Amino acid sequence: MEQRKPLTTAKIKKMKMDGVPLAVVTAYDYPSARLAEEAGVDVILVGDSLGNVVLGYDSTLPVTLDDIVYHTRAVVRGAGSTFVVADLPFLTYHGSIDSTMRAVARLMQEGGAKAVKLEGGAEVAPVVEAIVKAGVPVVGHIGLTPQSVHQIGGYRVQGRSSEQAEKLLADAKALEQAGAFAIVVELVTDELAEWLTKQLSITTIGIGAGATCDGQVLVFHDLLQYGPESVPRKFVKTYANLGETIRTGIGEYVKEVKARSFPGPDHTFHMDNDVVQYLYGDKG
Ligand code: KIV
Repeated sequence: MEQRKPLTTAKIKKMKMDGVPLAVVTAYDYPSARLAEEAGVDVILVGDSLGNVVLGYDSTLPVTLDDIVYHTRAVVRGAGSTFVVADLPFLTYHGSIDSTMRAVARLMQEGGAKAVKLEGGAEVAPVVEAIVKAGVPVVGHIGLTPQSVHQIGGYRVQGRSSEQAEKLLADAKALEQAGAFAIVVELVTDELAEWLTKQLSITTIGIGAGATCDGQVLVFHDLLQYGPESVPRKFVKTYANLGETIRTGIGEYVKEVKARSFPGPDHTFHMDNDVVQYLYGDKG
């Protein structure tokens, strides 16, 4: 397949100015990354949603830096010409700047990411500034921030009141000021996402935030229904049902093994007749 010209943060900024939407998807391993690249996504996020959709946790909190480094490496191997962003996991950027920079270094050097993402608003702006000063592009994440789920009290739409909207704008502006080149805006109303997007010079990437953001992101397993049946969420559109396809495929395999109809002649190797004769007693 033809190699694409690498996307850069400057090009992402230009896409906003030209009104060209940014298509982002999460991926966590070699095949999903490779397929996403072949399908033409602009950016792959190795999100800590890894915890929910791949590792079987009920939140993103147990995901470790080692987990994200390991999965980022696989993604970068699969999608060498795509801009890969890696999530900084829970509490890896709330200690000293030194320990934050060590975490960032691992994502970039060992993982091969081109940028990092972290959750939070004005309170993490100094951290964003330090990372950007070290030459690492940063994506912010506001609205519903899953790493704070226990403080927020559940996965619900954020910023419905004018005070909350003003707070989110102040957070977004603080991240912009600190040098973030994009911000994920999760689970807010369409009106709020549009209001934020219009007042920011950096790219907004929506998830559950309507159609007005500069780009969209969805979780690989959600958009392809790849996994056990789950409760449908309003903001997720499923474009394929891989779960059903996989379940049916494996079910057919199990049936054929039980019926001894797999492997059939097409999937079976044979040896020369003289050796068969030798083995079966006609040693001759
Ligand atoms: O972890 C993740 O996949 C994310 C997206 C939902 C934006 O942060």
